[in-house]
Amino acid sequence: MTTSSSNGATPGDEHKSQKLSPSGLPIRAIPGGYGVPFLSPLRDRLDYYYLQGPEAFFRTRIARHGGATVLRVNMPPGPFLARDPRVVALLDARSFRVLLDDAKVDKSGTLDGTFVPSPSLFGGRFPLAFLDAADPRHAQLKRVMISLAVSRMHAVAPAFRAAFGTMFDAVDDSFAVSGKVEFNAHNAVHMLDFTCAALFGGAPPSKAIGADASRKAVKWLAWQLHPLASGVVKPWPLEHLLLHTVRLPPFLVARDYGDLTAYFAAVAAAFLDDHAKKQQSGGPNPVSREELLHNLVFLAIFNAYGGFKIMLPHLVKWLARAGPGLHARLAAEARNGGEDDDVVTLAAIDRNMPLVKSVGWEALRLNPPVEFQYGRAWEDLPFATRDDRVFRRAGEFVPDRFVVAGEDERRRMLEHVVWSNGAETAEAKEGNKQCPGKDMVVAVARLMVAELFRRYDTFDATVVEMPLEPVVTFMSMTKATTKPQFVNHQHDEVAVLFCSCEPRASLIIRGTGHRKG
Ligand code: HEM
Repeated sequence: MTTSSSNGATPGDEHKSQKLSPSGLPIRAIPGGYGVPFLSPLRDRLDYYYLQGPEAFFRTRIARHGGATVLRVNMPPGPFLARDPRVVALLDARSFRVLLDDAKVDKSGTLDGTFVPSPSLFGGRFPLAFLDAADPRHAQLKRVMISLAVSRMHAVAPAFRAAFGTMFDAVDDSFAVSGKVEFNAHNAVHMLDFTCAALFGGAPPSKAIGADASRKAVKWLAWQLHPLASGVVKPWPLEHLLLHTVRLPPFLVARDYGDLTAYFAAVAAAFLDDHAKKQQSGGPNPVSREELLHNLVFLAIFNAYGGFKIMLPHLVKWLARAGPGLHARLAAEARNGGEDDDVVTLAAIDRNMPLVKSVGWEALRLNPPVEFQYGRAWEDLPFATRDDRVFRRAGEFVPDRFVVAGEDERRRMLEHVVWSNGAETAEAKEGNKQCPGKDMVVAVARLMVAELFRRYDTFDATVVEMPLEPVVTFMSMTKATTKPQFVNHQHDEVAVLFCSCEPRASLIIRGTGHRKG
């Protein structure tokens, strides 16, 4: 993560190896290197995208330097798109934790790594996620976003149920026509509706903007992320030229962004009014209505929708690979774990569906949807969260991993589930860079698993791994053959445990339930 110039280690470092750090450990030169300026970053870019791929890119460099997991490398996209490609990669769970300390890293402008998109894509000013925690605007905006996320938790399960129902009605219909259905295409449309309904209520984008809504959103995301994508244009030399050489001109997406902004101005009007009122009444938050609006667009489409668009295909991928045995266990839990109502609630999942919860965390551990974290210090999450020194069979999908008897052991593991740019046991605050949507995201992972196996007994899918999200195609789906059986959980034993789906700590209640009816 840190660039060479700022981390202090230089080629003449050998003599420093005799020196000791403030904690008394020997200071060693960081292995790896940056090669010949301009040419080596170009070569590394080709390795990363096409000749090796991201996983082999790091693995070969780790092997070349005797297994070192703290390494100097050139990080793509490099020349013309990023000013300085030189980073130090922290590729193990222990070293990367240093970087979760916001006092030690400067995160300003590092959201997309070494590439910084034009602020004209966001109405002229960089939104919250680009600001360092020490920036005074960060605390002001983060306060508002935390309050939005907390106040809308109640809407997550109903909004997800509605979007999931419409999405899988459409999936079932497509099956009747073609015999196989790409999940990503449906997910891209319906998760945009879900995200906006969960965050603001009101008419979803597919109604208010029209069938074009998700295309506009994805286009705007592409203008920000094209230097990091690959495998979308064929042949690859053409893609390299189009996506990895110069930035796509912002004016070509200005109209789409304008339409999205107009939608949020309407659908979030009550939230914006409320904020304006607080300011008039002398509240402590000097964020203008316009700045807040652009931040809401970014939060909804980049932070939230962009995340769900990547997370759910990964989750379905692991479920597909795990096969019918796991599906049957999940179906039993999802159908028998409800409470009183004919719907899945977050509280019922939390209390009665340990396997559903574990699968959600496990997918987030193995595939943090935001794969790379940068600061002026840099970390690569997949390697860090697949560290054998922390997790048994770290590279494997172990559905039961988090179904453990001891809460201490679960907490120990959750401290290393860090997809949210912080530990799963920590929380987003004004003074840190942790995702304020963390509880919402964990809730969505759980709801997806529970809803899927209430509707279907099992399914089969093919998976093609791609740099941003895997493409998952359903090949067969078997409708549920048993109905949910609601358990009236009588609660006889109460323990206070950590839970990430409800705010902070919650009562986990062990019940001795009996079946209704
Ligand atoms: C699967 C979905 C999501 C994923 C994977 C995700 C992941 C992340 C990550 C990794 C960061 C830190 C970025 C960085 O500083 O490098 C972040 C920040 C952020 N996320 Fe999320 N997020 C998701 C959903 C959400 C949702 C639903 C919300 C809205 C409630 C949200 C709001 C934000 C905001 C506002 C920030 C900036 C925080 C700050 O700068 O302090 N995210 N998210």
